[in-house]
Amino acid sequence: MDYDFNRVIDRRNTGSIKEDYQLAEAMIPLWVADMDFEVSHEIIQAAQERLLHPIFGYTTLPASLLEAASLWYQRRHRVTYQPSDMIPYYGVVSAIHLCFMALTKEEDRVTIISPVYMRFPMSVSETSRTLNEVSMINRCNRMEIDFEQLEISLQKSNVLLLCNPHNPVGRVFTMQELTRIYDLVEKYDIMVISDEIHADLIMPGYQHIPFVQVHPKAKQRTITLVSSTKTFNIAQAGMALIVTANLDYQVAIKQWMTKFHLGAMNVISMAMVEAAYRHGDDWLDQVILYIYQNYQYVVSEFTQHMPRIKVLPLEGSYLLWLDCRNISISVVDFFETQARVRGEDGILFGQDGKGYYRLNLASPRILLEKAMNQLKEVYFTLYP
Ligand SMILES: Cc1ncc(COP(=O)(O)O)c(C=O)c1O
Repeated sequence: MDYDFNRVIDRRNTGSIKEDYQLAEAMIPLWVADMDFEVSHEIIQAAQERLLHPIFGYTTLPASLLEAASLWYQRRHRVTYQPSDMIPYYGVVSAIHLCFMALTKEEDRVTIISPVYMRFPMSVSETSRTLNEVSMINRCNRMEIDFEQLEISLQKSNVLLLCNPHNPVGRVFTMQELTRIYDLVEKYDIMVISDEIHADLIMPGYQHIPFVQVHPKAKQRTITLVSSTKTFNIAQAGMALIVTANLDYQVAIKQWMTKFHLGAMNVISMAMVEAAYRHGDDWLDQVILYIYQNYQYVVSEFTQHMPRIKVLPLEGSYLLWLDCRNISISVVDFFETQARVRGEDGILFGQDGKGYYRLNLASPRILLEKAMNQLKEVYFTLYP
């Protein structure tokens, strides 16, 4: 089936955070990380079919859902996640909190590689753990890990909270980079929580490498967090998978869940997520292509007409990282106050994000064209 991602779907008055929440009048919303695209018809059909049964009582998670997930990761990433190693949970962010509570102690230290998704540092402070931040370096318009700093940080850490693909900088880490990370976590005996929520959204020419694939022993120190919700634009279905082959980790996580009676999943969400994993390939391939074309369009607009703003290569996710350190006004002033385009100020992702801006490209092209025209107008006034 061909999807029409050019179709503009009015999301106003649906409670959408992107469109209904804190969005000033007449702003183009390119911020919150969800997509403005209709989801695959198999997901809608699965939800509709489940609705036809008139009882929504206590329901177990079907084994077929975890089998479908396992097949998906095998098929798309050539990685084996055994269904028995998957723990369904409400979301990736809540899973990070859970892992901290279940697997670390209050005085433990967590390394993050910054700028990074703002919930990372928040999850560390909200669970009273201590943050060790390592900066990424912009080398020739590519964000790279500072391995010297990473080693210093890991020497005094217990956990590495990794984001791969990396939000907001759009990097998909290479085997060489991941191997260097693995060597350090092995050397300093660090547990890795690898948030791979963006793993399915990889741009042509790049390949996502699950952290557990980096070394045969990696899976014993790794908890991988994956989710169909980002991939298939069903964020509010609220289901992620905590994957770990380490039995001690599994036991500790499950004990913590039992303590608070956590783990029952929403009955409609389960149907949607299983359908997504089972039938989502075609929709996803079409979405990636569309996002990639959006990216090429936006690159050409910035390069040709707004050259002071440098676009960092989008390797994965649909979140574009822009280096705006060479414009004379603040990013908020430029994008939001003057151009009326609502992305995210880079500083929200840490001090290292200062002077950068993040734009969500998962929108119909016409919206991006409108945004680019408004940005150009402001840019031409500043730099006639
Ligand atoms: C890296 C990363 N992790 C987690 C999330 C949110 O995950 P969830 O909605 O499953 O809590 C996001 C959302 O943008 C994200 O970018």
